[in-house]
Amino acid sequence: MRSILKTNTALALVLMISGGAASAQDNGVEVLHWWTSGGEAAALNVLKEDLEGQGIGWTDMPVAGGGGEQAMTVLRARVTAGNAPTAVQGLGFDIVDWAKQGSLADLNTVAAQEGWDDVVPSALQEFAKIDGKWVSAPVNVHSTNWVWANKAVLDANGIAVPTTWDEFTAALETLKAAGITPIAHGGQAWQDATVFDAVAMSVLGPDGYQAAFIDLDEDVLGGAKMQEAFERMDVIRANVDENFSGRDWNLATAMVINGEAGFQMMGDWAKGEFLNAGKVPDQDFLCFRFPGTAEQVTFNADQFMMFDQGGAVSDEQAALASAILSPSFQSAFNVVKGSVPARTDVSDEAFDACGKKGMADLAAAAASGNLFGSMAHGHAAPASVKNAVYDVVTAHFNGEFDSEEAVAELVDAVSIAK
Ligand code: GAL
Repeated sequence: MRSILKTNTALALVLMISGGAASAQDNGVEVLHWWTSGGEAAALNVLKEDLEGQGIGWTDMPVAGGGGEQAMTVLRARVTAGNAPTAVQGLGFDIVDWAKQGSLADLNTVAAQEGWDDVVPSALQEFAKIDGKWVSAPVNVHSTNWVWANKAVLDANGIAVPTTWDEFTAALETLKAAGITPIAHGGQAWQDATVFDAVAMSVLGPDGYQAAFIDLDEDVLGGAKMQEAFERMDVIRANVDENFSGRDWNLATAMVINGEAGFQMMGDWAKGEFLNAGKVPDQDFLCFRFPGTAEQVTFNADQFMMFDQGGAVSDEQAALASAILSPSFQSAFNVVKGSVPARTDVSDEAFDACGKKGMADLAAAAASGNLFGSMAHGHAAPASVKNAVYDVVTAHFNGEFDSEEAVAELVDAVSIAK
């Protein structure tokens, strides 16, 4: 299906909507997702194999496009056509929306049998248990305020891990002078917004991030600090290569892996690409929080929503949900994916240095009130607001607005969207 999508998107869309190419196997599940990069596919295989081991067939419905925007478009078309897939990868407020529309099956029986209430963190339950009903199975917790670096490139240029904005900009200058692309980036709206998530957190601080992107406070959205965040985006823009526009995120990660670029600011799904290329944390690559956000975690959690197929949740949907929440799967899957478990009782033993740090950071941020839903990945505000922020951030990144104009546009766009 992936090659069809690349060569003939229109035909693929028709097949997807009609279900002609992807009707669920008997006794199986049809799973719509956007995990198509090397690292993502390797992680998804862990889930496929788990289900196959239980004799449950898997009909794969990949829709390429990082962040899942295209997948959500295909999903809407499928649901409108009365042909919803069995299980669908979803994020944050999108899950809440589908639940409120009554499209999702009730997983309360399996959740009660397995005690999900006690082991899934409350920040995730907000997006998985809607009006007292479990509607989706959380697979992981990712976070967006990470930087990934090529260790040999940093060492060769005498660069230590930057912990402040000034140290970071000095490192960018050093790399540029050495003829290395300082920041690997893909110019797509969701990637621009992912970078902005971290930059905004570092400038606004946790209270400002909460006020701007979760409470949608116009004073903060339109304030001097927000303008400073956009000014820092100008600095980032000045340190990407000239071919950044439209590049997929995993190709940007490859630039860091290959030593063409020094850093990438990206969620921890990037780690899946390093691992898939046989690279080792602390040896080949470094992971650290974006300077100025060491205490904070901006998170997003992938989940599988179970779509109501008419009637009670099917045995296959319940089995898929149960497999996803099992502690052994949570460890095996997240070790490969780059994320951390969606349950609080999974040991960090099998995780590498970045995974251990991710788990410790998440627990510490949750305990200290420093855990925030990611704006870029649909956990801070509903899709309409998220898309409004995307539009402004991307237009600014591409030079359509200066930073002062961007702030004014942001206030307007959010107030229309909310
Ligand atoms: C995120 C998702 C991750 C990863 C990423 C890039 O939205 O949560 O699992 O897939 O997109 O595709």
